[in-house]
Amino acid sequence: MNDKALYNQMPIVVLLGPPGAGKGTQGEYLARKFKWKRISTGDLLRGEVARNTELGKRVYHYLAQGQLVSDEIINEVVSQYVNANFHIGIILDGYPRTIKQAEALENYRDSKPLWVILIEVPEVVVIQRLSLRRVCAVCGKVYNPTISPFPVTQTCKCGGDLVQREDDQPATISHRLEVYRELSSPLIDFYQRRRLLIKVDGTGTPEEVFSSISQEIGKKLEYGAN
Ligand code: AP5
Ligand code: MG
Repeated sequence: MNDKALYNQMPIVVLLGPPGAGKGTQGEYLARKFKWKRISTGDLLRGEVARNTELGKRVYHYLAQGQLVSDEIINEVVSQYVNANFHIGIILDGYPRTIKQAEALENYRDSKPLWVILIEVPEVVVIQRLSLRRVCAVCGKVYNPTISPFPVTQTCKCGGDLVQREDDQPATISHRLEVYRELSSPLIDFYQRRRLLIKVDGTGTPEEVFSSISQEIGKKLEYGAN
């Protein structure tokens, strides 16, 4: 088997689900377990904003308001990362989020297998998770009393202050959920029709959800299913 054929065996795993479903949490677990590359579009864009790059300046308002940035921008950014990591498994956390993005991914993924994990969590649960989430202003570590209580010092282990993500304000959370319903939930049907969708209950503890996802990925790896 030549290199290209071998690389094409490595999967792209899409984590799909509403804001707060646990895409980032599960993406990190998966990346650690399988030594795959996790690409979080939200983290990438927030990084650009924090560094005040040209891209960051262009996308800042979209993120702050919970709007999607343009398909053209995000397709360009993600396709570059995917191409640069074609030799390993890739976890896409937060992409695709529109049918146009999904169609673009179909074009540039070549013959890499695509496995789409839909993390299902009711809106009432994600609203609670997102409103309680705090993030360290220095190292970015996430704290959430839905998983374990805040540190008694109310600061991060590194000493940084715990702050709320700008888009975790109540009005912005509900707007993000509207955007998900309108623009991202059609992806469920898109992938279901292509027989690429795997549904997982996202309401258990992070470890329970990870166990379900690992089992599904284990089956795919074992049978080499596309
Ligand atoms: P992004 O950063 O992707 O945000 P999101 O999808 O709205 O959702 P979150 O990151 O808040 O949730 P998550 O599902 O990752 O859950 P997490 O693990 O963090 O996108 C931000 C913005 O960037 C967008 O609004 C848009 O502007 C732009 N953008 C990004 N991608 C784009 C794209 N493709 N196209 C256009 N624009 C794009 O968990 C949430 C909380 O719950 C955490 O505190 C966590 O600790 C906790 N938690 C996780 N799992 C559990 C559990 N099982 N039980 C209890 N608590 C849990
Ligand atoms: Mg996330």
